[in-house]
Amino acid sequence: YFKAAIFDLDGVIADTARFHFLAWQSIADDEGFSLPAVVDDRVKGVDRMASLNIVLEYAGRTYSDAEKEALAAQKNERYVKLIAGLTPADLLPGAQLLLDRLRVDGIGIGLASASRNALPVLKALGIFEHFNTIADANYISHPKPHPEIFLTAADGLGVSPADCLGFEDAEAGITAIKAAGMTAVGVGSAELLREADDIVSDLTAFDYDRYFRTLI
Ligand code: G6P
Ligand code: MG
Repeated sequence: YFKAAIFDLDGVIADTARFHFLAWQSIADDEGFSLPAVVDDRVKGVDRMASLNIVLEYAGRTYSDAEKEALAAQKNERYVKLIAGLTPADLLPGAQLLLDRLRVDGIGIGLASASRNALPVLKALGIFEHFNTIADANYISHPKPHPEIFLTAADGLGVSPADCLGFEDAEAGITAIKAAGMTAVGVGSAELLREADDIVSDLTAFDYDRYFRTLI
């Protein structure tokens, strides 16, 4: 059995991946180019600047560092507006029940999100108190697919990586979990998340008893 669960946020617990994509689309619109749907998957788990670089591959011109800083800031302003109305209804299916069960069973719960907006999102969703540790994206020097953020969360929980189960909707995230020496549950498309040890379409399909010991 596993001793801890470490979660990505956007697209695993929170229905916010679509807001990241919408915000990027509105930036592309303003800049006069359009984004193909694949960008939605390409920016999952990828930090803000690296996501912008992916977006700008479709722009047809190069941007200076100052322009990039400005666009990244604009994207964030729009994203922050989009998430301003988040409520517990924006939790993805199965998330609340899973977090509740883990807490009751005394399993460590960690967050490994690349988002600098993770704290307000957790608070708006009403699940901030469920987390025993949050690996702060602001202090992570190597973004996913590097394992640093998952290892930091395991460290915060005082659990060895081999005893941690990681949950991710992004390819880069699954790679990070595996590189950390953890077991990976992919949430979403089996095609995209091939490296995962187990795949569920959403958290309602997660087989809790296979991974965690139920105490009551
Ligand atoms: C998550 C999302 C990415 C996003 C990143 C940074 O990993 O999946 O799409 O780019 O967080 O988010 P931030 O809120 O810091 O811009
Ligand atoms: Mg994600």
